[in-house]
Amino acid sequence: MSLLNQLDEHIDIDTIPYKGGLISVVSPRKRINTQGFLTESKSILGAVVRQQGALLLRRFKLNGAKDFLTAVETLSGNKLCNYENKSTPRSQVIDRIFTSTEYPSDAFIPLHNENSYTHTFPRYLYFFCLKKSISGGETPLANSALIHQALDEKVKDEFLGKGVRYVRNYGEIDLPWQEVFGTDKPQEVSEYCEKHSIDYKWNKNQLRTEECCPASILHPDTKEDIWFNQAHLFHYSNLGEGAQDLINVYGLNNIPRNALFADGEVIPKGMLDHIRDTLNANEILFDWQPGDLLILDNLKMAHGRRPFEGQRKVLVAMSEELTHRELN
Ligand SMILES: [Fe+2]
Repeated sequence: MSLLNQLDEHIDIDTIPYKGGLISVVSPRKRINTQGFLTESKSILGAVVRQQGALLLRRFKLNGAKDFLTAVETLSGNKLCNYENKSTPRSQVIDRIFTSTEYPSDAFIPLHNENSYTHTFPRYLYFFCLKKSISGGETPLANSALIHQALDEKVKDEFLGKGVRYVRNYGEIDLPWQEVFGTDKPQEVSEYCEKHSIDYKWNKNQLRTEECCPASILHPDTKEDIWFNQAHLFHYSNLGEGAQDLINVYGLNNIPRNALFADGEVIPKGMLDHIRDTLNANEILFDWQPGDLLILDNLKMAHGRRPFEGQRKVLVAMSEELTHRELN
């Protein structure tokens, strides 16, 4: 019997199937007290998320950011966390509830596991759809254990053997360091970097950091190997045709961000193309409905964002900080 069948009298269960797995979609069968249901069912729902990597709660009575906060505080057992060492612009809506990445609507955000470019990352992500776009704007998902299995062995061996070095030059084009680290005091940034083994270099008020992380993790529950890095986002080739212009102006060493192998070797573009192709081939798509609450195991499911037309408002919360050191 599936875990969700234990909640049978309260819910309807649908599925989003994909090659290699499925994601359950749970809706209330009759008018139920949402908060009461979440409180009573959170351990079963949590077990489903750990098993499937994702769970979509649909048509529950959740009417805005405050309802979302109450729901995710319950689901997470009051373990919501903040967004540290950020890589994309986003605003705090209310305490520990953020907007999803505020990139222009025509931008495509590639599949990624949240904060896998740094030492600390959330175990769980919660997305809440306040407003659905007119078209596009899906949040594609991909099972990172299947990505690990599907990648070419030679590419995988290089990445697993060496790890990834994430290079960031803050300000001007990319996020300013003040926004990334949440302070305007360089001394506090330096202390943060030292505490978290991030190499840093100040040039007057300009900051450059380099951080090395593994390319994969071992899932703590399922013991699956998980592809868990953002080399394909940080590498300059992610900028497409604009990359060469940027390199011409700033020089390869000074562009806002780049990814190298941890030993400083250049990552061949062909390897990144293969990774992007593998991610795209394993993309799982579903249509948002206003009020949807999507729970992801960030260690198992990658997410992205498709370009969209019209207004789109998706809120995000994160819970349970973990570190690479704890998982490898
Ligand atoms: Fe993200």
